[in-house]
Amino acid sequence: MCGIVGYIGQREALPILLSSLERVTYRGYDSYGVAVLNGHGIEVFKKVGAVDVVRADIPFKGSTGIGHTRWATVGAVSERNAHPHFDCTKQIALVHNGDIDNHRDLRERLAAQGHTFTSETDSEVIAHLIEQKLSDGAELVEAVEAATGELEGSYAIVVLEQTTRRMVVARRGSPVVIGLGDGETYVASDAPAILPYTHRVIYPEDGDVALVTTAGVDIRHNGSKVSRLVRTIDWDVSQIEKGGYEHFMLKEIFEQPQAIRDTITAYPAGLPRLPVENPDHVVFAACGTSLHAGLVGEYLMAGNGKFTVSTVVASEMAVVPFNRPSAGLAIAISQSGETADTIAGMNGLSEAGFKTLAVTNVRHSSIARLANGVIYTTAGPEVAVASTKTFTTQLVIMAMLAARLMDGTERAKSLREAIRTLPNKVQQTLELADEFKSAGEDLARFNNMFIIGKGQTRPVTLEAALKFKEISYVHAEGVPAGELKHGPFALLEANTPVLALVADDAHKMRMLTTLREIKARNAPIYVLTDAPMHDVEDVATRVIILPKVEAGLAAAVFTVASQLMSYYCGRAKNLPIDRPRNLAKSVTVP
Ligand code: M6R
Repeated sequence: MCGIVGYIGQREALPILLSSLERVTYRGYDSYGVAVLNGHGIEVFKKVGAVDVVRADIPFKGSTGIGHTRWATVGAVSERNAHPHFDCTKQIALVHNGDIDNHRDLRERLAAQGHTFTSETDSEVIAHLIEQKLSDGAELVEAVEAATGELEGSYAIVVLEQTTRRMVVARRGSPVVIGLGDGETYVASDAPAILPYTHRVIYPEDGDVALVTTAGVDIRHNGSKVSRLVRTIDWDVSQIEKGGYEHFMLKEIFEQPQAIRDTITAYPAGLPRLPVENPDHVVFAACGTSLHAGLVGEYLMAGNGKFTVSTVVASEMAVVPFNRPSAGLAIAISQSGETADTIAGMNGLSEAGFKTLAVTNVRHSSIARLANGVIYTTAGPEVAVASTKTFTTQLVIMAMLAARLMDGTERAKSLREAIRTLPNKVQQTLELADEFKSAGEDLARFNNMFIIGKGQTRPVTLEAALKFKEISYVHAEGVPAGELKHGPFALLEANTPVLALVADDAHKMRMLTTLREIKARNAPIYVLTDAPMHDVEDVATRVIILPKVEAGLAAAVFTVASQLMSYYCGRAKNLPIDRPRNLAKSVTVP
């Protein structure tokens, strides 16, 4: 959470910092700030709100600066707590993304040494710690090395020193990328932020400390000079623009056929070699939307007769007991590749003896570097906080993995055929947008809803409910259809609609019975189905027929339908679709 940026070069830093900040705003948007180095010293500006919403006239001139957009963790949302933070003498300005676990102890110690703090944040402690090291005689790089050596937790920092006009970057556990230009160098939490300026980047590794100059970087690790690969980003600037759509979310929903196609064709010769080719146990670990992709993977692989399969909430890993498997494969799913809980969960499984495979959308992300193997979704950059195209491309990888691990079976064969048809099926689903719009706008009247499904639609109930919560602020609950009568029925009444996801499979008659029971409780029923049945029309307020996808992969089209319904529901309520309140796209704190 939180986005950091930096610039050192020949041009005016401020416009570059502000526009880079806009592109990392999805990481947090409760306040922002910039600091620019010039003849007057380090000038700083901070404001509550998102950088592109409460933009201000900032008069700073200077060709070196840093910036930050915040998702509050330690300390309330306020200008005081917004970054950049300073040391006592205002020689050091610092922006930080991460979480310092021992900040209280450090603050106490530094306060006893005479340091005065102006914010409640853990981040300000780092600035004072560096100041202390400088006053002990270290120069900036050494001071940052010594200070970060005392930090527990995660950090990506950019530090600016007034006297030497130097900029230093350091990271551990939080992402940062350094972009190389011609006589200028950029820093950001992730590559899309600096894509308009450069495609040549370096990803510092955990524990690296880098002196950033107009000529590039000098990186040190454990006190010794190291070199890191210069990589080229193949994403395009147009991919991080709205391209005529009202919201990034809508654009990204409509990009799904292509994103799915790109993900399928990225591996023309099949998926790369897996860390374990014949596992006896597969476990998925992930959070949020990615967790739901894991549940789809579990559904596709369940009962295969060769290996067992389960899914765990990554943040609950500490309490999930696992026996050491002889050949276990842990599959960590994360679009950003930076989710702290998922990384911790994956590491826990690795310690328990599993080989790890990361499924991520971001090349060279932390999870990609830490896992024993990696498979990429090729969704392109996703800007909206809500995951859409990254989810459906994760489903494609789930299906490809299922086909690979169950190779030689009829299920694998039909899955491969279903994957082949998926881009067109998703395209056909998008062509029903007007129907989803009308149903979504209708649902905007309600504050609560249930979403029910069974079998292959069960994980979609959870994903659809998540979308309705974050995008439409509707308290939506995904429930297995059979569970309704074990309690939730008590809440059914005319103001509590039920969205039913009825797939054309062995469960459809059972679903129909449940719908009749719901109808008898006067709850409005909305049905998404790929199984045209006259009886459904009798009970439902509205029925939308989806294209049929075989082999248990219907989750993809049901998801696309629910994405559009939640989008139009939120839009009807005039909500901040791309940046829902209190959220951030990348949750890099545990
Ligand atoms: O980057 P990740 O896939 O690891 O993120 C995990 C969740 O934070 C994320 O899926 C979140 O639930 C979605 N953005 C919600 O739409």
